[in-house]
Amino acid sequence: MKAPEQILQKAAAVLRQPAPVLDPHELRAYVLAFISQADGFLALAGRYGSPLYLLDETTLRRRALEFTSAFGNFLPQFQAYFAVKSNNHPDVAASLVNCGLGLDVSSGRELELALRCDCRDIIFSGPGKTDAELGLAAAHNAAVTVLIDSFGELERLEQAARRQNCCVNGGVRLTTDERGLWRKFGIPLAALEKFMQAARQCPHINLHGLQFHTSWNLDPGPQTAFIVRLGETLRHLPQPYRSAITFVDIGGGYWPSRGEWLQPAGTASGRLHLAVAAENHLPAEHYRLAAKPIEIFAEEIAAALSAHLFPLASCSIKAEPGRWLCDDAMHLLLTVVDKKADDLVITDGGIHMVGWERFEIDYAPVINLSRPSATERPGFILGSLCTPHDVWGYGYFGEGIEPGDILLIPGQGAYTYSLRQEFIKPPAQTVKYASQLGPTHLEI
Ligand SMILES: Cc1ncc(COP(=O)(O)O)c(C=O)c1O
Repeated sequence: MKAPEQILQKAAAVLRQPAPVLDPHELRAYVLAFISQADGFLALAGRYGSPLYLLDETTLRRRALEFTSAFGNFLPQFQAYFAVKSNNHPDVAASLVNCGLGLDVSSGRELELALRCDCRDIIFSGPGKTDAELGLAAAHNAAVTVLIDSFGELERLEQAARRQNCCVNGGVRLTTDERGLWRKFGIPLAALEKFMQAARQCPHINLHGLQFHTSWNLDPGPQTAFIVRLGETLRHLPQPYRSAITFVDIGGGYWPSRGEWLQPAGTASGRLHLAVAAENHLPAEHYRLAAKPIEIFAEEIAAALSAHLFPLASCSIKAEPGRWLCDDAMHLLLTVVDKKADDLVITDGGIHMVGWERFEIDYAPVINLSRPSATERPGFILGSLCTPHDVWGYGYFGEGIEPGDILLIPGQGAYTYSLRQEFIKPPAQTVKYASQLGPTHLEI
């Protein structure tokens, strides 16, 4: 524990530098783009009822194209694998496979989903794969590359492959931080040579790649910093091991360029206010942590690879984007069921649709499609679960709000649908549609 004076000094520094405020013009333009499609959304609500997940396949496909061309411009041998955990709706995976992406799965269940999509290029990563999961991967070895997480998993994969008398393609995951909780992923860089030696003793495994993953990157700094460390390690690796490496998987973690939108409680200064001032509700301000465009991620990562990796290993590059591809391809549609005060309404859906108390921390606009307005008005927009933490937001864009009004919470494709819970209310259904630019017409 730090001394109280040190803590106070740090707290003072945090309060002096609060997170940047979300530009109201940017927010307004974002909201207006959805209001311009209100008729289409209202038609979907009329036809299917609510609550609903709306899956916008046009945006999903556009994102896939943007991501692959951003990286493809700099890295001719580049393949993207959609991280299924970020949105495990089968139609999301199927659409992205149709766009030429592979799939990145992290469990037997996700692997089965990928196989049902007829995906021929699957990477299977993640810690603690069970024998049954490794057996499933071995049984589909023509389509699956296993990113091995530990020495123990290497042995168990060898046994699974031996039992099926087959050879499994593999890579090894490298931990990006040898201290703390991230140690649970992969092996330390210092153990790479020993791991490659051990893999040579496994006749049923063809180990030919490396993987790392860093999370929640607003810019490519964490990825490029690890590429520098990886280059240092490869420099000292015996040549035959280096030549065995034919791919490097640089993982996911690309934050969408809209930036991270936060409620006060999602910022360090907001958390301090809540902890110290015993306030239970903060002013309805919104904050935005800026994120770099994907072209900058691609350019800087490619530059780091050219400087530190390609001189040492002639390899192709794989990536595992999740959030970046699916975040703005899914929206939530709700109906106001009850109005308990001028500033408090209850909706039919609750935060079981997103799996956690997300909107106490993250900010997303609540748009009243039935009485649209570009002005945000204060009011508690709460779900119908039996918990006071069932919060969608502390305001809404609309000329008032009444029972029966249809609300849209846009841009909820990443780590919401796949975290949904069966808690009190039944799960909501998903409706696919194709958004179009300009005055919108929606197709089912
Ligand atoms: C190994 C791995 N790859 C890719 C991803 C996808 O990350 P993101 O959705 O931030 O791109 C994750 C997310 O946890 C992950 O653990």
